[in-house]
Amino acid sequence: MCLTMPVQNKNVIEVEKLSKSFAGKRVVNELSMTVARGEIFGFLGPNGSGKTTSIRMLCGLLTPDSGRGSCLGYDILTESGEIKQHVGYMTQRFSFYEELSIRENLEFIARIYQMPDRRRLVDATIERLGLGHRQQQLAGSLSGGWKQRMALAACMLHQPKLLLLDEPTAGVDPKARRDFWDEIHRLTATGITVLVSTHYMDEAERCHRLAYLAYGAILAQGTPDELLAASGITTWTVEGQDLFELTEALRKAPAVEQVVPFGGALHISGTDAGRLAHSLAPFFEQPRWRWQPSKPSLEDVFIHLMNHGQDNYS
Ligand SMILES: Nc1ncnc2c1ncn2[C@@H]1O[C@H](COP(=O)(O)OP(=O)(O)OP(=O)(O)O)[C@@H](O)[C@H]1O
Ligand SMILES: [Mg+2]
Repeated sequence: MCLTMPVQNKNVIEVEKLSKSFAGKRVVNELSMTVARGEIFGFLGPNGSGKTTSIRMLCGLLTPDSGRGSCLGYDILTESGEIKQHVGYMTQRFSFYEELSIRENLEFIARIYQMPDRRRLVDATIERLGLGHRQQQLAGSLSGGWKQRMALAACMLHQPKLLLLDEPTAGVDPKARRDFWDEIHRLTATGITVLVSTHYMDEAERCHRLAYLAYGAILAQGTPDELLAASGITTWTVEGQDLFELTEALRKAPAVEQVVPFGGALHISGTDAGRLAHSLAPFFEQPRWRWQPSKPSLEDVFIHLMNHGQDNYS
């Protein structure tokens, strides 16, 4: 056996208690997590919660102040060079040459990274990501969705085993986002592991597992269903007339923690199911409203975590 080969572990990422401070301010606080091979793991959390900093530490691009761990079987503290060779990192603000075509951009990247067999790699990546019919189009003239796909192609040229995608679909329309996510699912079916940060709830639901960060700490992690179940949130939906007036009244009612308009309905949530039902009882009796118990959404769960996380971490 070759001793320099990484251990073929089920987990692609295993880190323990990673912390990082900038200018004396701790922005990631004892982050511990694992990501299994072939998994799509989502990072959620408000702006500045430490998602990008965590992603960069997980792949050895940024050295933690303390903690330890491995990525693809390599030590994140001492073997970051090896990790980089097998990781594709799509940064939050990626850049490319607008006056070059998709193909030329990819060829340029392959050349500056001195990738061997460049022609074949570029051809294979264009084919793999369905960019064939647009390969001659100038990057500057592409729609947002195609730009994201080109950026994904660029970080996959060297055929990485792990993709780190930092808000890859920010500002892209829903159809293009869905296509992008179909692509991510296709890639993971071929054994690639994906760590992705997002602010979009529909994308969170498409992850196998999620971690919710606030103030640099993981407040909750698990599958979307586990997070919903663990939140302890009860939600009611109400439809009918005068919903604006009802919103104002409900926000003052005890045990009501969230009142959120969704199209022609309101979602009312709270963590004390009994007190919530008691509080809503007078409203149930009014014929102008139709009430139904409903399932909380991930958005309800995350807003709840954000509101309550602040108490613990500020
Ligand atoms: N190189 C740096 N120097 C100083 N402070 C930094 C640096 N990088 C990040 N920070 C700070 O660390 C905190 C976490 O930033 P980070 O970019 O990891 O958050 P994020 O969750 O990715 O936010 P966003 O959703 O806006 O992308 C922020 O307060 C940020 O200003
Ligand atoms: Mg970020």
